[in-house]
Amino acid sequence: MYDQYKRKIEYVRISLTDRCNLRCRYCMPEEGIEKMRHEDILTFDEIIRIVRGLAALGVRKVRLTGGEPLVRRNIVELVREIHKIEGIRQIALTTNGVLLADLADELVKAGLTGVNISIDTLKAATFADITRRPVFARVEAGIEAVHEAGLRDVKFNCVPIQGVNEAELPALVEHFTHLRPWKFRFIELMPIGCAYEAGLKGIPMAEVRQTLENAFGRLRPVPAASGVCGPAAYYQAAGFRGQVGFIDAMEHKFCSSCNRVRLTAEGFLKLCLNAKTGLDLRSLLRSGISDENLRLALQQAIYHKPEEHFFKTAAYQEKDSRAMYQVGG
Ligand code: GTP
Ligand code: 5AD
Ligand code: SF4
Repeated sequence: MYDQYKRKIEYVRISLTDRCNLRCRYCMPEEGIEKMRHEDILTFDEIIRIVRGLAALGVRKVRLTGGEPLVRRNIVELVREIHKIEGIRQIALTTNGVLLADLADELVKAGLTGVNISIDTLKAATFADITRRPVFARVEAGIEAVHEAGLRDVKFNCVPIQGVNEAELPALVEHFTHLRPWKFRFIELMPIGCAYEAGLKGIPMAEVRQTLENAFGRLRPVPAASGVCGPAAYYQAAGFRGQVGFIDAMEHKFCSSCNRVRLTAEGFLKLCLNAKTGLDLRSLLRSGISDENLRLALQQAIYHKPEEHFFKTAAYQEKDSRAMYQVGG
């Protein structure tokens, strides 16, 4: 379906939990996190009903996010059920990779078509410093498991941070994209979560790009892949099988072509990453709404999706101050 600004909405990002097995400094504080109560989180049956409603309206891609989606029990079962829904063509996962070694194979067999893995460094010590957990080897094993499982749509997310992983950016791109057809993406540090309070400073995408061009020569723009895509712009260096992507989140550039809505773990349909506007689907479901009325409610909410995000407008009333682990990115 189309929203009031004539954008085609065909992608839903579903956060399965606010819990995470890491504590990245830009995302979650070590202590004092208020966890959602189990009864407040949507059940798989409720999620499936919503995805059916969205698929009937034209949604073609589902991405499961968190927190860390793999800490939610029986996720393989959920993927299997989503795979059965008519109209859904892509089922992807955004994960920190810690639990992938055990689950990759089963997930792919259940119908998973893609995975985005967060990885900010190649050094175990820097990993432990950023995430506050010494489990780099688990992530490496998870990445290998994804390779073994034969998944084709494999991407990586890296947040460049001054003085932390700054010197490793070309090495990361080389490691993941020189010999394998994977996509390595850089995300500009966004003013959400505890990023700025932690005193971390991101690196502008133009600067990251210059560093890479100094190392590998000119980066040639690559046309968008087929299927439903996110906001990254992709490039390729000569002699590389894979690609490098940039998610320039601080600019409004991709709001005008935004194709997505979000579902939080508590069942709130969020219409923009950075706005509070949306619809409390959990209340509707738990008060016994019919499938037909659910579809109408979804349709009406999506039509009113906001025009753009407001990272740079401090006073915006509708602004959402929650972190990535609470909204699923
Ligand atoms: P795919 O193309 O499906 O891989 O989507 P994606 O790149 O959006 O997926 P992923 O979950 O890996 O998100 C990567 C980063 O992009 C996360 O940090 C998101 O918060 C950010 N991001 C995703 N969607 C939006 C958006 O609509 N606006 C902004 N500003 N950032 C977004
Ligand atoms: N700014 C930019 N990216 C962030 N992520 C989490 N918090 C932030 C932030 N404040 C990233 C994670 C992960 C992706 C889903 O979002 O590193 O790769
Ligand atoms: Fe967990 Fe991802 Fe947040 Fe890191 S960025 S704490 S892996 S939700």
